[in-house]
Amino acid sequence: MCGIVGYIGTKKATPILIDGLLKLEYRGYDSAGISTLEGTGISNIKETGRVKNLSESAGISDLSGTIGIAHTRWATHGKPSRENSHPHLDNSKTFAVVHNGIIENYSELRKFLTDNGYTFYSQTDTEVIPNLIHYYYSKDEKDDSEKFLRAVRTACNDLKGSYAISVISKLYPDEMIVSRKDSPLVIGLGNNENYIASDIPAILSYTKDIYLLDDYDIAELHNNSISFFDKNLNKIEKAAKNIEWDASSVEKDGFDDYMIKEIYEQPRTIRETISSHLKKDEPCEFPELNITKEYLSGINKIFFVACGTAMHAGLASRNTFEKLLSIPTEVDIASEFRYRNPLIDEKTLMVFISQSGETADTLAALALAKQKGAKTVAVSNVIGSSITREADYTVYTHAGPEIAVASTKAYTSQVVLLNILAIHFAEILGSYDATKLNTFKNEILELPEKVKSLLDNTDTIKKFATDIHNEHDIFFLGRGFDYPVALEASLKLKEISYIHSDAYAAGELKHGPIALIEDGITVIGTITDPNLKDKTISNIQEVITRGAKTFIVTNQDIKKENYNFVFDIPETNPLVSPILSIVPLQLLSYYVAKDKGLDVDKPRNLAKSVTVE
Ligand code: AGP
Repeated sequence: MCGIVGYIGTKKATPILIDGLLKLEYRGYDSAGISTLEGTGISNIKETGRVKNLSESAGISDLSGTIGIAHTRWATHGKPSRENSHPHLDNSKTFAVVHNGIIENYSELRKFLTDNGYTFYSQTDTEVIPNLIHYYYSKDEKDDSEKFLRAVRTACNDLKGSYAISVISKLYPDEMIVSRKDSPLVIGLGNNENYIASDIPAILSYTKDIYLLDDYDIAELHNNSISFFDKNLNKIEKAAKNIEWDASSVEKDGFDDYMIKEIYEQPRTIRETISSHLKKDEPCEFPELNITKEYLSGINKIFFVACGTAMHAGLASRNTFEKLLSIPTEVDIASEFRYRNPLIDEKTLMVFISQSGETADTLAALALAKQKGAKTVAVSNVIGSSITREADYTVYTHAGPEIAVASTKAYTSQVVLLNILAIHFAEILGSYDATKLNTFKNEILELPEKVKSLLDNTDTIKKFATDIHNEHDIFFLGRGFDYPVALEASLKLKEISYIHSDAYAAGELKHGPIALIEDGITVIGTITDPNLKDKTISNIQEVITRGAKTFIVTNQDIKKENYNFVFDIPETNPLVSPILSIVPLQLLSYYVAKDKGLDVDKPRNLAKSVTVE
């Protein structure tokens, strides 16, 4: 949702800050702003709408300060407007603050500050922060080098809720203070310059050496030094992590949009995810997990909890866990999970799936699972994200930064990774026939090539997209392993093309939804499981009889002449067919959205990481 970038160094800050904000556009926002230190004061420029508006704003090209902070805001408290966008300044214009997160006790703090003579000019929760800093700064009688740091620390102690903040002050022209609690913030180490950001992609083209802050940590940045302190302002040591992501991975590399680039990256991202854990004729390896045979033999249930596409990855992998391990495996939506008093205990293995690792509902579900004593594993794509700090163990998908709001490459990496995890557990437990397991492993190793072959042949998809792009309702059907694919394909289409669509388990159709089928309506079916093929074909026949136009994704031998469009995918083990069959449907939603002239990377109302519940 909101994004933060900061720079302290010897170069002009503004171009670096604007560049960082542009890299964070994918997160979703409605206004943007920047503050730099200029001479003896703070310059503060904000605009509603895109970062482009900010970069063209009057006065922005005159900014020459070498220290600054910038922000993209996704409105929570107060409508999108200049007044409400960040950075926010205190009444005396001494401190400027950018903030991600939500200050839950802002009304109390606002009252306290109003009673002490402060005035508020926005409806935001954030505006209390610079004023609180000013309040504590002016009350502090000690005038030493840590006065600024102390004021920020004391103000943060009053905040309830979540925050990642960066603060600059006209009184400290070579200093920036940052802190966080429950909202991500990273510091990038440069050469005689340093960077801060809410997300690594914002600063990846400047540095790959990243410090991760823990909750309540506070850091003081200068051009050539970074000092870290704990909650009580005791100095602490931190080591920078070298991030493997390639800076070009946050560029479009000649593609029109990030989404299409990310779809085409899948042969590589699937290969990289596989190669971290699975090599031909060797047992799978997850050195980051310390899961023993004794532990696995004692568990009574595996639970996948996630939101949106990540939840679909859980659904697409559940059957593999049940088949290979014979352990009941459930999948739940994170925002529902914790309100139904879930039956979990220390014998439950909880797997939380999150591309961003920052999804508020998933984090809340994780906290509940920990309270109940379950062992927790995070599956995430972002190093150092909140979920990876909270879970007992983390396994990373190796999809690289995913910029488009609609998740594509992260989904296929999640499904691949979860399937390999199931094999790993089966190898530990000895719960499945070793020869069959080996054949399955070989089939997984073939997936990158198979995905590549799909991507080389997209004419039918483009044609079909053009055919349907003006429709209002579309139905997706599938049985067994094809049902999660129908759900995910339908979500993709809704997200970026704004066409209403529904996904049904094909067998459910005649229990109600078939009433919606009328002449000319589009039905998209997936048929990849030989055991369910005939039943799915019968269900699709039922809609054809009622006048539906059909598009079928299949690797089965079917009578093609019965359908309007058929897209062939390579044969594979049905357990991993969702990795292949989703790819043409990702492309379909992309081309439909393009035909409609929509912004596929930044669909309306959506944010890349959903950090509010
Ligand atoms: C995917 O296309 C969506 N934008 C969305 O459903 C997403 O998968 C969901 O918000 C979960 O995000 P996470 O994986 O970062 O937790």
